[in-house]
Amino acid sequence: MNIAFIDLAQQQARIRNKIDAGLTAVLNHGAYIMGPEVSALESRLGKWTKAVHNISCSSGTDALLLALHGLELQPGQGVIVPSFTFAASAEVMPIMGAIPIFAEVETDSFNLDPNKLEAVLAAGQAANIDVVGIIGVGLFGQPANYDAIRTFANAHDLWLIDDAAQSFGAQWQGRPVGQLADVTCTSFFPAKPLGAYGDGGAVFTDDDKIADIIRSCRIHGMGKDKYENIRIGMTGRLDSMQAVVLDAKLDIFEEELALRQAVADRYQTLIGDIVEAPRLAAGATSSWAQYCIKLPKASDRDHVIKHLGASGVPTAIYYPVPMHQQPPYKEFPQSQCGLGVTVDLCRRVLALPMHPYLDEAQQQHIAAELRNAL
Ligand SMILES: Cc1ncc(COP(=O)(O)O)c(C=O)c1O
Repeated sequence: MNIAFIDLAQQQARIRNKIDAGLTAVLNHGAYIMGPEVSALESRLGKWTKAVHNISCSSGTDALLLALHGLELQPGQGVIVPSFTFAASAEVMPIMGAIPIFAEVETDSFNLDPNKLEAVLAAGQAANIDVVGIIGVGLFGQPANYDAIRTFANAHDLWLIDDAAQSFGAQWQGRPVGQLADVTCTSFFPAKPLGAYGDGGAVFTDDDKIADIIRSCRIHGMGKDKYENIRIGMTGRLDSMQAVVLDAKLDIFEEELALRQAVADRYQTLIGDIVEAPRLAAGATSSWAQYCIKLPKASDRDHVIKHLGASGVPTAIYYPVPMHQQPPYKEFPQSQCGLGVTVDLCRRVLALPMHPYLDEAQQQHIAAELRNAL
């Protein structure tokens, strides 16, 4: 049995006709960038996020950069961010001349630990850094605990970004991603729960001023037109062809989220007794971008990966090295409570195949081979 880690082909077969027709329409009208499909997509995204401003852009990384422009982050200022995340969450600060301050995560949700925010803020203050905000990440699809993080942020006058590159479509206490932070960013990288066939992303906010700056920065800091440049910006626009793909995928997105949840439930039943399967917090839903298990402490992860690979089961490690141990990030401040949970997760996590069309027989094979490997 050869199993796909992420299977985009079955999904494409369902929506291919709509994509073909949409791409033909773009070829005919010729508005390749930010054409009518892009504005239609933005209003459709708003139905999911309930945000006032739904601004498409060129990638999840650019969404984070645009959010930082919108929040007027200044060089030398500090932003709290988990170390257990994809590089982009932290990379955008040094790009802006600012400083990431690495925070600890919870061992079961993989997300920012609200109880350890005091210790990370203290690390920034001890280094004489003006800490202005927090980037929470909805890692693997589940939003962070934004109620507790918001309480902390308000108490310390910090703004809040939700890096929802992996968690678009999820909810926290009945509120959708898009409503959990001052600014929310997502990615439409092809492997994401809502993925395009190229790079893309979006920024969501209810704040008019932030949205104005983001729209301006998306096109080189434009003023009344793109040849009036009133601030330093970037090129951050979305292609019309990517909007066509995303529109077709949105037709089946709700159904796919339910299918992903069913896959996660089946995994829980099949392997919940041999590994620590990912757990959702009470009141949280996940878009299950990844299904990341924690192997028992004493197990040999390389052996498990090799055994599964030889049995037709691809795996991935998200993430093998925490951000605070990556060479360009080593000198940035780290939480005063240490990052022991993060380091332990990097040693033990393993992502199993996850996509809406994974069937029961495939999951039984994965579970049996994982059991054999352990
Ligand atoms: C948590 C997180 N943040 C940001 C990004 C960046 O998104 P993109 O690859 O679209 O730039 C990703 C994408 O992999 C991600 O997983």
